[in-house]
Amino acid sequence: MECCVIGTGYVGLVTGACLADMGNSVICVDRDNLKINKLSKGEIPIFEAGLEAIVTRCLKSGKLKFTTSTKEAVHVSTLIFITVDTPSDYQGYADLTHVDEVAGDIASVMNGYKIIINKSTVPVGTTRRVERVIEESLKEYHEFDVISNPEFLREGTAVSDFMKPARIVIGSGSQKAIMMMTDLYRKMNAPLLITDPVSAEMIKYASNAFLATKVSYINAIANICEVVGADVREVSLGMGYDERIGFEFLRAGPGFGGSCFPKDCRALLRIAGDYGYNFKLLEGVMDVNREQQLRTVDKIKRMAGGFDGKKIGVLGLAFKANTDDIRESPAVNIVSMVLSGGAEVSVYDPEAMENASEFIPEAKFAGDAYEVAAQADILVLLTEWDEFKWLDYTRIKELMNSPVLLDARNCLDPAVLRKIGYTYEGVGR
Ligand code: UDX
Repeated sequence: MECCVIGTGYVGLVTGACLADMGNSVICVDRDNLKINKLSKGEIPIFEAGLEAIVTRCLKSGKLKFTTSTKEAVHVSTLIFITVDTPSDYQGYADLTHVDEVAGDIASVMNGYKIIINKSTVPVGTTRRVERVIEESLKEYHEFDVISNPEFLREGTAVSDFMKPARIVIGSGSQKAIMMMTDLYRKMNAPLLITDPVSAEMIKYASNAFLATKVSYINAIANICEVVGADVREVSLGMGYDERIGFEFLRAGPGFGGSCFPKDCRALLRIAGDYGYNFKLLEGVMDVNREQQLRTVDKIKRMAGGFDGKKIGVLGLAFKANTDDIRESPAVNIVSMVLSGGAEVSVYDPEAMENASEFIPEAKFAGDAYEVAAQADILVLLTEWDEFKWLDYTRIKELMNSPVLLDARNCLDPAVLRKIGYTYEGVGR
């Protein structure tokens, strides 16, 4: 099928590349000339497992193209995916400026029947809003359908999440659009939920807010575990065997971050409030998340014996492992607070150093984990990169000023580290 994907961020690029790899003809559009030039040469601006290989392969086969011209892309496509960003505005609402602009652009160049597909996470009612923008901006009459088809891609595993989705959600009242979308996804062995657009939009927010709730829940449980002397890892395991609960998203840590959970929780709170519902549960989820970062800072301070004149070594800046993304990263927030407290902070992350540098310019950016550890009064692990699990902690201990370790992701073995001679603390254990 002929597809065009407007917006080449994480979601757009993965969607475009994967659709092309499935055999569709895809044109990805972005107004950033430089980005499009690089993408046309197969240069990927983000770190995402498997993506570069797909883009290179599909560029070569001609199934994937990049352009800055919406007109060129829309003219040859029937399926038009909107994958532009919807950042939080100052009040926590999802900012739809880019979605509106793109909808207007599409309408002004439409040359026949089009299905406009909202993949961006958008507030309830946006499908109808995009319909209105298009109706108002059409130069001449053309039949079209606007539908909701939310994405559920996790950074780091976005390609496999796209190719092997847990479910596909299509929100539309148009049989024609539903038929074409069903055909597009027919090779995917996944449950297909066809529903109305408003429910599809809600599914996305409800899913992300629920997962965020799980994380805050286990973090709250971890905090209780600490005082009663239980181990939250054992507790998660024991909970997870119950199929109604499951093992996923029960890892205690420094709080959730990233480009989706915080933004989507804020937006859902706003949506609920606008319709007169006080979503106290979700407020609590966000409070726990903020407090979890503060608790981590307090723990660092206590374990280091204050911040004044202390050298804090930090492993990890990305909001989670296997990504270079630092958006709303608890690690970056924590480093920032520790710096404000007056400590000297040395940091290392395998992929996120460049992105983080503008937010924590006072930090010292080290070449590796061992450099971070040198003369440190405490080593703090904030992102669960695999390489941090396999470091030579005996060597690290020799390099440190004092062997104190805070494993804020519970990814190391306390018994092994204590045996080496560390004062070790995790989260909730
Ligand atoms: C998320 C959703 O999973 C995805 O479906 C949606 O479309 C976009 O948002 P992503 O932001 O890539 O994906 O990250 P995810 O893997 O879900 O993790 C979010 C945050 O929660 C991270 O900061 C992570 O470290 C934290 N987390 C996750 C925990 O602290 N503990 C857990 O057990 C799981």
